[in-house]
Amino acid sequence: MKRTQVVIVGAGPAGLLLGQLLHREGIDTLLLERRSAEYVAGRIRAGVLEPGTVNVLEHAGVATRLHAEGLVHEGVEIGFRGRRHRIDLKALTGKSVTVYGQTEVTRDLMEARAAAGMLSVYEAEDVALHDVGGNTPRVSFRHQGVVHEVACDFIAGCDGFHGISRRSIPAESLSVSERVYPFGWLGVLADTPPAWHELIYANSEQGFALASMRSPTRVRCYVQCDLTERVEQWSDERFWAEFRLRLGGEIGARVPDAPSIEKSIAPLRSFVAEPLRFGRLFLAGDAAHIVPPTGAKGLNLAVSDVFYLSEALRDSYREVPGERAERALDAYSTRALRRIWRAERFSWWMTRQLHRFPGDAFDSRLQHTELEYLFESRAAQVSMAENYVGLPL
Ligand code: APR
Ligand code: PHB
Repeated sequence: MKRTQVVIVGAGPAGLLLGQLLHREGIDTLLLERRSAEYVAGRIRAGVLEPGTVNVLEHAGVATRLHAEGLVHEGVEIGFRGRRHRIDLKALTGKSVTVYGQTEVTRDLMEARAAAGMLSVYEAEDVALHDVGGNTPRVSFRHQGVVHEVACDFIAGCDGFHGISRRSIPAESLSVSERVYPFGWLGVLADTPPAWHELIYANSEQGFALASMRSPTRVRCYVQCDLTERVEQWSDERFWAEFRLRLGGEIGARVPDAPSIEKSIAPLRSFVAEPLRFGRLFLAGDAAHIVPPTGAKGLNLAVSDVFYLSEALRDSYREVPGERAERALDAYSTRALRRIWRAERFSWWMTRQLHRFPGDAFDSRLQHTELEYLFESRAAQVSMAENYVGLPL
C-alpha cells in the first residue's frame, strides 16, 4: 500500500477502536503496531467500563461478548478505618459500570478488524512521521527488513505514553502538565473467585488496596507500594498477607493465597499534552494523557478521545478542503480536552483521598475529613458517583 486516508500508529484500544469507527464511516486506515499481535492481545490492563464506553463499543459493533460476559456493577465500596461504605452508583446516578477486562476489549477489536479485512502491520519497526505540519504527511516503517513509506491525509497518534507521535511534535507547539505520585501500584491477577461482590477501594493504615475482578473466577488486586520496590521482592504469600491486612474485616479474612498469573508494578502519574492536534497529526489515548488508575478512567478516556476524533475526521471529509474542514478537525482537541481534564481532576481526587502520602498532620486530617464528608453527604456521593460512571460524552 502506498496511500491510505488515515495512518493509525499503535494497536492499543485507542488505535484499534478508531480504526473500527472510521471503517463504519467508510474511511480507510492502515494500522501500524511495534509489537506482535500476540503481545498486544496478552497485555493485562484495567477493566471498568463506563456506560458511555459501552455505547461507543456497541456503535462500533464490538459489544456482543461484552454484553454476554461483562459483569454489571451497580455500586463500589470505599474502605476506611475498618469500615466499608457503599457508593450506590445506580441509585445516585441511574447508571452502572461494566467490569470487562481491557484485554477482552482488545481481543474483540482485533477480531473485528481482521474480519473486516482492514490492513494492520504488527512488528512494524522504526515508525517515523514525516511532514505532519505540512500538506504531504507520510509515515515510514520497516517490516521484515523492508522499508515502506505510506502517504496519507491524516495520522492518528495512538501509540501510548512512550510512543513516537507526541515526540514528533515540536516542543514549542505542545504544552505539558504533569504530576508524579510518590508511590506505585503492585498488581496481581489470580484465578480464584472474588470474596467481594463489588470493587473495594481501601484506604488503610498500611496504604491503599484495591479489590477488583475480571470474572466470577478471576480476581485483580492491587496494593500501594514504594517506587523503589521490585516485583521479585513480593512473593505471592507476601502480597496476599499485605492485601488481607489492608482490606481488613471478614472479607480480608476470606482471601486465599491464590497463585498469581501476573504480577507487576506500575508508577502513578497525571499527564496532559495539549493541544491534541499539530497539522495533520492527532494525539489520542495514552499518547496524549495519563491518569493514575484510581478513578478507572484510562481506557474510558481513550474511548471518548477516539469517538470524538472519528467524528471530527468524518465531518472534515464531508467538507471540501478549506476553512470548514479545518474547523471540524480543530473541534477534536477542544472537545476531547474538556472531558480529559475532568477525568484528570477526578483521578487526582480519588488518588489523593485513598492513598497514604508523605505529608504532615494537616494533610492527613484533611483526607480523613474529606472521606467522612463523602460517607455522610449525599451531595458528595452524587459528585463521586457521576464522575465514576463517567461524565456524558
Ligand atoms: N510504533 C508503533 N506502535 C507503537 C510505538 C511505535 N513507535 N510505540 C508504541 N506503540 C504501540 C504500543 O506497543 C501499544 O500497543 O502503541 C500502543 C499503545 O497502546 P496503549 O498503551 O494501550 O494506549 P491506548 O491505546 O491509548 O490505550 C489507553 O491503555 O495503558 C492503558 O490505562 C491505559 O486503559 C488505558 C489504555
Ligand atoms: C482493575 O480491575 O484492574 C481496576 C479496576 C478499577 C481501577 C483500576 C484498576 O480503578
